[in-house]
Amino acid sequence: MNTAVSTPGLTPDLTPLTARRGGPLQGRVRVPGDKSISHRALILAALTVGESTVSGLLESEDVLHTADAMRALGARLTRGEDGRWRIHGVGVGGFAAPAAPLDFGNSGTGCRLVLGAVAGSPVTATFDGDASLRKRPMRRVLDPLERMGARVIAEAEGGRLPITLQGAADPLPIVYESPVPSAQLKSAVLLAGLSAPGETTVIEAEASRDHTERMLKHFGAKIVTKSHGQHGRRITLTGQPELSPAQVVVPADPSSAAFPLVAALIVPGSEVVLEAVMTNPLRAGLFATLREMGADIEALETRSDGGEEVADLRVRFSKLKGVEVPAERAPAMIDEYLVLAVAAAFAEGTTRMKGLQELRVKESDRLEATADMLRVNGVTVEIEGDDMVVHGGSVAGGGEVATHMDHRIAMSALVMGLASDEPVRIDDSAFIATSFPGFVDLMRGLGADLA
Ligand code: S3P
Repeated sequence: MNTAVSTPGLTPDLTPLTARRGGPLQGRVRVPGDKSISHRALILAALTVGESTVSGLLESEDVLHTADAMRALGARLTRGEDGRWRIHGVGVGGFAAPAAPLDFGNSGTGCRLVLGAVAGSPVTATFDGDASLRKRPMRRVLDPLERMGARVIAEAEGGRLPITLQGAADPLPIVYESPVPSAQLKSAVLLAGLSAPGETTVIEAEASRDHTERMLKHFGAKIVTKSHGQHGRRITLTGQPELSPAQVVVPADPSSAAFPLVAALIVPGSEVVLEAVMTNPLRAGLFATLREMGADIEALETRSDGGEEVADLRVRFSKLKGVEVPAERAPAMIDEYLVLAVAAAFAEGTTRMKGLQELRVKESDRLEATADMLRVNGVTVEIEGDDMVVHGGSVAGGGEVATHMDHRIAMSALVMGLASDEPVRIDDSAFIATSFPGFVDLMRGLGADLA
């Protein structure tokens, strides 16, 4: 199923796609399962002795790479006819040495979380990925893992993939003050800490998504979270737990819902219902920002699904206005700035998004790539230090967007083309499958003209 990326480090052939303005978007859809939760469900189940099940797993390329890595490390994973995954885990510290390098494709989350999990097992593994992942910084994760006793046997220049890591036979618990608000970094340390005796603590100045903490609890680990400073958290995990097999239900991904949601806001006359979208507050920054901009987003029914709050969101075309988005909101919407920039381009007035330095180290340099996406389509944008300023109004369109192997650039540009004066073309749609298989069909089902 991993079609876009088959050989580590290589770029596949390009598949262009064009979005055109048409009639209103209408309908009721459920976007696929949450990517962050899907990776974590597979990894934690693999670290548990016995059989766990996962339903609603996001079967995207990123997540399937993590599934392959878990198999290579000794866990048994099967997918039932009903779409439910069964995972027989090996237990904390129980990974076997993989026979070949682990290929994470485009996925920073899969790679960084598994680096942490392997750091707590006495095995050696080589980690690799595609050309985009090979450019991304891994030192931020390797530094604390080395403190815990793992050894980096080989790494490419600047702490990049491919990396060979020797896990620690007797990992040490640490107190780690995270220099960046990154859930991947936090999760890597916590996963390594599972094998360490005593307490492993991560302190973050700005709270990042807490799915690892919630799911560790769900699998029976002892983990305590306290607030730290104004926006931060102090998370303490007691190591060497007996994790118990569990059932995981994966809710719909708010980061994927963001695309049809913004499309409905900017295409006149639209009304769309997005079913069962996860509304975890550490993921809901986009919804808060859009509401401040005047978006008509109504939570029709709020309930709990698999330990997370979910809601059906009814979204109607809205006249948006520019706002200032504070830097401290960034961790709760870090993957959504691209599509927010599209909404801002259609809004009246100026939108300033502050403190976006982490966007530079995503699947692409998203600060530059987002600005370029807008500029080639006639929108005025400035990058001022780590802030992005978008001057809204109408969007001319007519440009071809370079997607840089980045799924979210691709989807954001296509959303923009549904409301711009002239069509918007992207150079490559293949990477959409890393996070949102079925995106094109789902959008066409709502009435979008994508061809
Ligand atoms: C993720 C964390 C974020 C986010 C990524 C998913 C996760 O990355 O951008 O898409 O599942 O932990 P960082 O931890 O690098 O901010």
